[in-house]
Amino acid sequence: CTPHPALCLPTVLTVCVLIFCSLCALLTPMLGGGRGGVGRTRPPPEVTVLLWWEPFGHRRHMADCQRRFNISGCRPSADRSRYQEAQAVIFHHRDFVLHGLGQLPAGPPQRPPAQRWVWMNFESPSHSPGLRDLAGIFNWTMSYRVDSDIFVPYGYLHARRGSPRFSLPRKTKLVAWVISNWNEAHARVRYYHQLRKYVPIDVYGAQGLALEEGSMVRTVSQYKFYLAFENSQHTDYITEKLWRNAFKSSAVPIVLGPPRSNYELFIPPDSFIHIDDFPSPRKLAIYLKFLDQNKPLYRRYFAWRDKYDVHMTSFWDEQYCKVCEAVRTAGDQLKTIQNLASWFES
Ligand SMILES: *[C@@H]1O[C@H](CO)[C@@H](O)[C@H](O)[C@H]1NC(C)=O
Ligand SMILES: *[C@@H]1O[C@H](CO)[C@@H](O)[C@H](O)[C@H]1NC(C)=O
Repeated sequence: CTPHPALCLPTVLTVCVLIFCSLCALLTPMLGGGRGGVGRTRPPPEVTVLLWWEPFGHRRHMADCQRRFNISGCRPSADRSRYQEAQAVIFHHRDFVLHGLGQLPAGPPQRPPAQRWVWMNFESPSHSPGLRDLAGIFNWTMSYRVDSDIFVPYGYLHARRGSPRFSLPRKTKLVAWVISNWNEAHARVRYYHQLRKYVPIDVYGAQGLALEEGSMVRTVSQYKFYLAFENSQHTDYITEKLWRNAFKSSAVPIVLGPPRSNYELFIPPDSFIHIDDFPSPRKLAIYLKFLDQNKPLYRRYFAWRDKYDVHMTSFWDEQYCKVCEAVRTAGDQLKTIQNLASWFES
C-alpha cells in the first residue's frame, strides 16, 4: 500500500465490510432470525398455491396432496381472495390465450415480493401462441420439458413395488391408432398415409372407428402395435399417446415425435419402435409383419416390465401439489423468466 495511501483506505474498508457481512449472513439463520433473510432454514409450514384460472374453465375438487402424492403442508386453492397470502400463483398458458394478458393480477395490492408466479403449459410450442408477450413476468416455468423449473412429464417409469407380474394381454389385431385432431398438414397424418399402403391400420376417433368413452385401453390392448404419433415434434414433447394409449394398453408404441435419443432419456431403448429406425414406411411395415410372426422377438419389447411400472400424471392436481413441493424446497433466491419464448421453442 505504500505508493498511494489515499487509494488504500477504501480497499481496506471494503474488505472489512465484506467480512462483516459474510459473518452476519452465516450467523443470522443460526440465531433463528433468518426468515426472509439470506439463509432461511425451515420451509413454511403451510404453502398456499393459488390457481389463477382453472384449466379450460372446469371447476375441480382440489387434491389432498398428502394423501395422493405424499406431499405435506400444501393448500392448493382457486380462491382469488387468497392472492396476498399465496406463496405461488399458477397461470395456465391456454387460459392466457383465452382471457388475455389484461386478466393478470394488476394491483393494488402490490404483487407480494416473495410470491412466485408460475407459467404452466403442457401444449407444444406449435400450439402455444403468444409466448413473446410473456417475457419478464414469471418466476418459474412448469411444463413437460426436463429443464423447466418444475418438471412434470405426462408420465414416467418407476421401480416396481410388489405389483402383480406383468402379463401380456391376448393380441388378435395388428396396428391401432386413436386420433381426434385430424390435420392433413401434420407429419403424423402424412406418415400414416404412407404406412397404410403396406400394413393394415385400424384408426379410431373422429375420422375412424367409434371408440366408446372409457374403452380406449381395453380396445387398444387387443393390438400388438400402437401409433404413438405426436401432433408436433419438439424437445421432450412426449404425451399420453405414449404413456396411456400405448403403455397402459400394453401395445408396443411406434413413435413419431422428437428423436430416438430424446425418448431414451425417459424409457428403455427396447420398449418402443421409432419411425426414424427405418429408412421408409415400407421398411417399417415389413418389420412389423416380421414381428407379428415372431413371438419371442415381439415379447422382448416387454422385458422392461419386470423392472418398471408406468405412472400416468394426474392432470391437474399433481401439478398443483408439485408447485407446493417446489416452494417448500426452494430458497429465497429471486428469479425472473426473461426468455420464455426462445427457451420453450428451442
Ligand atoms: C413420504 O415422504 C416421506 C418424507 O419425504 C418419506 O420418508 C416416505 O418414505 C414417503 N412415503 C412414501 C409411501 O413414499
Ligand atoms: C418474480 O418476478 C418479478 C418480475 O420480474 C420480480 O419483480 C420478483 O422479484 C420475482 N420474485 C421472485 C420471488 O423471484
